[in-house]
Amino acid sequence: MPVTVVVGTQWGDEGKAKVIDLLAGSHSHVVRYQGGHNAGHTVVVGDERYALQLVPSGVLYEHVTPVIGNGVVVDLATLFGEIDTLESRGVSCSRLRVSTLAHLIFPWHQRQDAISESLRGESKLGTTLKGIGPAYADKVKRIGIRAGEVRDSERFRALVKERATQENALFASLDEPLLNVDDVVNQSDALARRLVPYLDDTVNMLHDAIERGATILLEGAQATFLDIDHGTYPYVTSSNPTAGGACAGSGIGPRDITRVVGIAKAYTTRVGAGPFPTEVTGELGDRIVDIGHEFGTVTGRRRRPGWLDLVMLRHAVRVNSLSDIALTKLDVLDDFDTIRVCVGYKLDGRTTTAFPDDAETLSRVECVYQDIAGWKKSLRRCRADSELPAQVQHLLSLVESHTGVPVSVVGVGPERDDVVLRRSMS
Ligand code: GDP
Ligand code: IMO
Ligand code: MG
Repeated sequence: MPVTVVVGTQWGDEGKAKVIDLLAGSHSHVVRYQGGHNAGHTVVVGDERYALQLVPSGVLYEHVTPVIGNGVVVDLATLFGEIDTLESRGVSCSRLRVSTLAHLIFPWHQRQDAISESLRGESKLGTTLKGIGPAYADKVKRIGIRAGEVRDSERFRALVKERATQENALFASLDEPLLNVDDVVNQSDALARRLVPYLDDTVNMLHDAIERGATILLEGAQATFLDIDHGTYPYVTSSNPTAGGACAGSGIGPRDITRVVGIAKAYTTRVGAGPFPTEVTGELGDRIVDIGHEFGTVTGRRRRPGWLDLVMLRHAVRVNSLSDIALTKLDVLDDFDTIRVCVGYKLDGRTTTAFPDDAETLSRVECVYQDIAGWKKSLRRCRADSELPAQVQHLLSLVESHTGVPVSVVGVGPERDDVVLRRSMS
């Protein structure tokens, strides 16, 4: 399988990194194609837990070339902090390549993120405050600074100075404290010098590699329902995590993509504001959060819990042309008496399986549930499909019949080996 896309099918944190780690063993490159350090991707190997924000999840394998593609927005301080931490733990990052076309995040972007959230007051989005939206806005406004600019220090310093000065004029008009322009220029340039050896024309690099028989994983961050176009706008991120974004954000065209794996948790979580039809509050919700350790990797925020929603998953199949589903964290539901699965929405007296095209309508739907008896035993040691209890098989059949896509991977624990492979993924 030359090029596989891995994409989140809910609101993020589905366990994408664990599936990337599982597949990376048989791939030569792992490419992040969108998002930035708003992502928190966790890989557990034995006693070691790695929480990655910008460095692609394949970095743990020596044979993998990790690539930060052109569609990513890069915060250099975070990138080098992450590289230093990984290297201090014995993980070499020297193979990392960063696209010259990727846009950089600067201190004014983080400031703008905080200001726009505070201006929204009660209706704030609950962003990660990492400056992601403002950095993509600058890219679209054609005033962003790209990674390739750092190669000419004098020009880079002039660009940063010009942009910081312009942003200060805006901060002044809002009575916000000003940036120290010289500090921003000097700090950005120091980080920029470190970036130079990692820079590459990753688009041509990846195509040359494909021609030589490379196998490539395109690692999505965030998820389908956080997509700027297909998500629950405005409660979304500012990029395209969906499979189409994998083409734009890596420079690999659609005909080179051979598989699209959608990652879904066996339940659902959401961080930040926005409609969530299957949300579970109260004690039951707390129980899911406790057992699933549902606290954000990046911001530490409690994730909102809810049941699995097959209306959403079916829509994710459509939007991403999924070929496979990986259903993760099944083990979190081991002790529940009843597991609920949403199979339709009731809207204005009618039942539908179509995902509404706006957040306001989504906030009004009522869920139609199918209840499944819990299996009440630990799945942690299951490694073969035949070892999964009948109730789990029933759940998997329900998912497959509603989506039309096979569940090829089942997650039964956080560790690398805690999976059941139901179909070959190579
Ligand atoms: P990502 O952003 O999609 O890569 O997901 P995160 O890393 O933010 O969150 C997923 C969390 O669930 C991590 O702590 C993983 O170690 C953990 N995880 C992944 N798959 C499984 C699974 O099958 N079972 C359990 N118990 N934990 C899992
Ligand atoms: P991974 O890759 C879960 C959410 C934020 C907020 C919205 C917009 O780990 O799945 P942003 O800072 O991107 O402008 O915030 O998107 N969000 C995530 N939620 N997992 C993520 O990444 C997320 N990245 C952003 O909580 O609601
Ligand atoms: Mg995450």
